[in-house]
Amino acid sequence: MPKGTILVVDDEAEIREGLEMLLVSEGYRVTSAETGESGLSKLEEKPFDLLLLDVSLPDRNGLELLREIRRRDPHLSIVLITAYGSIDMARQAFKSGALDYITKPWSNDELLAQVAQAVEARRLREENVHLKRALKQRFNFPNIVGKSEKMLALLDLVAQVAPSRSTVLITGESGTGKELIAKAIHSASPRADKPFVPVNSGSIPVDLLESQLFGHVKGAFTSAIASKKGLFEVADQGTIFFDEISTIVPETQAKLLRVIQEREFMRLGGTETIKVDVRIVAASNVDLLNLVREGRFREDLYHRLNVIHLHLSPLRDRREDVPLLLARFLERFCQENTRPPQHFSQSAMKLLMDYDWPGNVRELENAVERAVVLSTQENMDADLLPENIRSKEIVRGLRLQLSEFMPHAPGESGARIGAGNSQPSLFQVMDEIERRIIVDMLERTGWNQTEAAERFMIPLSTLNQKIKRLGIDVHRRGRGGEEVFTATTGK
Ligand SMILES: Nc1ncnc2c1ncn2[C@@H]1O[C@H](COP(=O)(O)OP(=O)(O)OP(=O)(O)O)[C@@H](O)[C@H]1O
Ligand SMILES: [Mg+2]
Repeated sequence: MPKGTILVVDDEAEIREGLEMLLVSEGYRVTSAETGESGLSKLEEKPFDLLLLDVSLPDRNGLELLREIRRRDPHLSIVLITAYGSIDMARQAFKSGALDYITKPWSNDELLAQVAQAVEARRLREENVHLKRALKQRFNFPNIVGKSEKMLALLDLVAQVAPSRSTVLITGESGTGKELIAKAIHSASPRADKPFVPVNSGSIPVDLLESQLFGHVKGAFTSAIASKKGLFEVADQGTIFFDEISTIVPETQAKLLRVIQEREFMRLGGTETIKVDVRIVAASNVDLLNLVREGRFREDLYHRLNVIHLHLSPLRDRREDVPLLLARFLERFCQENTRPPQHFSQSAMKLLMDYDWPGNVRELENAVERAVVLSTQENMDADLLPENIRSKEIVRGLRLQLSEFMPHAPGESGARIGAGNSQPSLFQVMDEIERRIIVDMLERTGWNQTEAAERFMIPLSTLNQKIKRLGIDVHRRGRGGEEVFTATTGK
């Protein structure tokens, strides 16, 4: 099977042949076209994974052609071939939907890496479509994305236990998808068309929880001016979901135990026993067994809840799911924001793949939403990622540079600050770090201070003050000059 199918559109025979030879030798299937028009008709004949498109074709304006192709196939990966590496050109190309661009003459290794990534991007988009279908066939959980062994095993279990009435305990770190799984259990059960009632035990005040759960009769307490049904009654025939079950206090735990055992209870202040048929699902992101050992959670309740235990692994332990989740959320947020399909650049992808995701899927979801909302072009670069995800990149950059602040470090010479052999003060070092982060952002935004302030999420006036204080020379900019170091020594 070929690694991927590629269409090369370039009017220069030499370029076409060169690319063809290189790509075929790497296992790709390559088709070539000489003009924009013939390229378009080749694209109509059969699907390709990647289009390598020369922007300066004799018969068509390259960017115009790019937009037309993009309209016809929003998922095709397109990489442009340009004769010169103008940033402006690249910007326009990204805006029109190109994934990447290569400049003539290119280095083969780099080109092959770009091609592999572009083909992979297409494959992932397609895999997601297939996967959605397959997951739907296998489990009918269209909202849940995952292909890791851990996730598939969990979904198998979910499908197995859903039809029963057994109590389920779902554990996992915050943001791993506990509520999503609880809902999946409900919707794959015979109770699907009955209510799913979430109880956020942590956010309901202790003294209100019982009346919320069990209801109360008129006059049960001062503010009980009428009888009220509790959530257990609301959930009758359906599922009640206790989120953060660990926050429930011991008195309420005892009552809960009774409902689980007997499926009956009394309203607060009432004398009548009410019977209900509810399925109980509970979730916790702390280890309940530890709480049992500490005497803060009833052991008998723990065993009653732990009939079937489902554990959601942290995202960092199932990294194969990351690209799929990214693709799913990209699709969703682009749709919600009526944007054409967006994608992350290669360097952004690398950071996303390396990151540990302490906030798990929720953190990933938020990062994608933020990037989509802030982005101005289809190719989203690392600068659109939150600081904590980028910190690896920043730290990597800084670590290199920090060595410059230490005049005595072996093999280091020219310390910029603290020259004259005195150690720089902590403040000087911090200023210098801040200065470099700001200069770096200004470089990325083409010295557009308004955009830089937006990306830092600080007011423009604050950025201006910093620029002044740190002596960043913004006037020398915009004429293609190198940033000149102006910080003085020994402040
Ligand atoms: N496998 C998945 N596929 C698609 N979306 C997911 C997946 N896992 C989690 N999500 C999404 O991530 C977000 C967080 O999930 P959820 O609220 O279920 O987590 P949680 O474990 O209940 O978190 P917490 O402990 O903070 O309450 C939700 O928007 C959910 O839809
Ligand atoms: Mg939750």
